[in-house]
Amino acid sequence: MIEQLNQLEQDGLKALAATDSAEAVEAWRIEYLSRQGQMPKLMEGMKDVSKEDRPVVGKTANRVKIALQQAFEVRQAEYALAGPGLPEDTSLPGMPVAAGSVHVVQQTLDDMISIFRKMGFALAEGPEIETEWKNFDALNTPEDHPARNEQDTFYLNLNEEAKEGRMLLRTHTSPVQIRTMLKQKAPLKIIAPGRCYRRDEVDATHGMFFHQIEGLVVDKGIHLGHLKGTLEYFFREFVGPEIVVRFRPHFFPFTEPSFEADMGREGLKIRGKDWVEIAGCGMVDPAVFESVEIDPEEYTGFAFGIGVERMAMIRHEIPDLRLFYDNDIRFLSQFR
Ligand code: PHE
Repeated sequence: MIEQLNQLEQDGLKALAATDSAEAVEAWRIEYLSRQGQMPKLMEGMKDVSKEDRPVVGKTANRVKIALQQAFEVRQAEYALAGPGLPEDTSLPGMPVAAGSVHVVQQTLDDMISIFRKMGFALAEGPEIETEWKNFDALNTPEDHPARNEQDTFYLNLNEEAKEGRMLLRTHTSPVQIRTMLKQKAPLKIIAPGRCYRRDEVDATHGMFFHQIEGLVVDKGIHLGHLKGTLEYFFREFVGPEIVVRFRPHFFPFTEPSFEADMGREGLKIRGKDWVEIAGCGMVDPAVFESVEIDPEEYTGFAFGIGVERMAMIRHEIPDLRLFYDNDIRFLSQFR
């Protein structure tokens, strides 16, 4: 009986190795392992084996059965992986392969960055977890400013007694201004893209997080005309040559004067409006220069912050910011 089992194993494995299609593998399974197959048939002989011999024969039978079963599974998987092989008609279309794509917000960000790089801006970076000092104090934002409120900013229970105050999730990319000026001093010309966090009620135009591109240029003799020209050039590249940019007076603690920049185009509406807000901006406040030990008598500069989701919404006429982060493939796959 043991000899018969070993013979069956040898024959079975050899026959399995000789199969050349998924169909042949299935035929092999029926021949060897199915209820009427050779293995179960041989096992019927167990009842004639003497009591003393049964444990040894049983053990061999088990081993052979497992060996055949495992060999079968491996062979079957090989054919499943290989697929149906070449069809007779090689002009038939191939099997479609689903490819991923870059997220529409990242696509927009990449396009924006490449325009600024063409204009000579270097790329700067900062962490999403910031100190209270870099996010607020160094940017001339006083203790009682409403943006510092617990209702507006995510504070973290880290480093309670740190020199630079509490840790928080940065509310804008402007702390990268501070980081870069501390490190490089002046002159400099940088953009700093990245994610920011605010404790906003989530709706069609607000999220708990969003992306900005910060811009900062510091040199001798920088003036408002440079800022306007930079933004105008950027938006003409990004949207089209007919774009005009206008400034509305505004307030930011870290710029003076401060503006909100709008873009529009002669005779045409953008999202149903004559003008859409596109950036916060202004001339760097001398108090900011002082906090990073740059002499405001010697240097001037401008800064701006542009919302990336907003740019993607304008470009693709997307009505609701939440669509970006629902991760619905039907939405995302439209932007390849
Ligand atoms: N940090 C500002 C905001 O998030 C935008 C800004 C950047 C304004 C740089 C002026 C200068 O709203």
